[in-house]
Amino acid sequence: MSKPEKFLCICVNERPQGHPRGSCAQRGSREVLMALAEEFEKQGAFDRSSLVQTGCLGLCQEGPLAAVFPDNVFYRDLTAADAKAIVKEHLLEGKALPNKTVPDRDWY
Ligand code: FES
Repeated sequence: MSKPEKFLCICVNERPQGHPRGSCAQRGSREVLMALAEEFEKQGAFDRSSLVQTGCLGLCQEGPLAAVFPDNVFYRDLTAADAKAIVKEHLLEGKALPNKTVPDRDWY
């Protein structure tokens, strides 16, 4: 296995029903994870990048949330339909998807 250039970390944290912060798992992050894994395989992204399941990334209200490191780019409100573009455009071509990134102003 070669050393990964990028890590795509997707939150699969799940909180109990009724928790005030909710969680990415309740918002469908496991479906997004499965779609990302499929796209990694189809597009050959595992040669240069790693797909990692994580706990809470901090902005639960914007989930499903994922982050690409070392780029420090966070994606919000993801669906399975976003997987193809994230893998192709960000991981393989190096261009973040501006319409899905978390703006700096959302960090507090
Ligand atoms: S539960 Fe996913 S970012 Fe907090």
